[in-house]
Amino acid sequence: MDDNRGRLTRDGIRLYDPGDFAGMHKAGHLAAEILDRIADHVVPGATTGALDRLIEAWVVEAGAKSATIGYKGYAHASCISVNHVVCHGIPGDKTLKRGDILNIDVTVIVDGWFGDTSRMYVAGDKPSVKAARLIQVAHDALMLGIEAARPGNTFGDIGHAIQSHVESQRMSVVRDFCGHGLGRVFHAPPNVLHYGRAGTGPVLEPGMFFTIEPMVNLGRPETKVLADDWTAVTRDKSLSAQFEHSIGITETGAEVFTLSPAGRFHPTR
Ligand code: MF3
Ligand code: CO
Ligand code: CO
Repeated sequence: MDDNRGRLTRDGIRLYDPGDFAGMHKAGHLAAEILDRIADHVVPGATTGALDRLIEAWVVEAGAKSATIGYKGYAHASCISVNHVVCHGIPGDKTLKRGDILNIDVTVIVDGWFGDTSRMYVAGDKPSVKAARLIQVAHDALMLGIEAARPGNTFGDIGHAIQSHVESQRMSVVRDFCGHGLGRVFHAPPNVLHYGRAGTGPVLEPGMFFTIEPMVNLGRPETKVLADDWTAVTRDKSLSAQFEHSIGITETGAEVFTLSPAGRFHPTR
């Protein structure tokens, strides 16, 4: 993949050109539109494998490519992470039950640009009170992270905004997975941590493209990866929730590439 645009910072973070935002918007739009479209199919009785097959068909129909099929041996167009699965849930024969909460994560490649986004869904849209609170906190944590994403702030400011909100709600931030730079590649520097100290880490500059994708647990932050080498679960079996946007830093703030065209990013409002 060609990735010689713009220039690199001292920390190895690529600064893309203003003309590169359009490609990211196109890729992000498709990924978000697919997440909008899948919402009506997330119902009790559906299998995660069937949802993934719909997503794969829609990627193909759009003339795009799935970034995850063939990525390090992964074979699916989405990750579907149900209840205590933190991330990288492999779609399969798991049948959704009423009240299950799940994250669906889709990454597409359009004209060589990567669009990566995920959000929460509720099967039968009747979450428990605790699950609804968890989803709200994970959503708000992402939005607070995006608000902190502006030139002059640091990556530590983003992590701090997320961590302090989550912990103020007596929930925990997963440390074992992070956001990432992206653009003409799927995963690039920096690691975007969802915890940290204000004022630490690289300074944000216009032209940086990266994801913010906090995973929030109702219980403790520790995770473990199952024997399939992908599925990450909470060690204490507590519920976990995640939202992800791909964004680009501008002169004044951030543009979100993966906004929901239908305004359906948040599942319960
Ligand atoms: N989309 C995920 C992310 O947010 C990565 C999934 S990689 C896969 O970075 F291989 F598990 F699909
Ligand atoms: Co990502
Ligand atoms: Co993702």
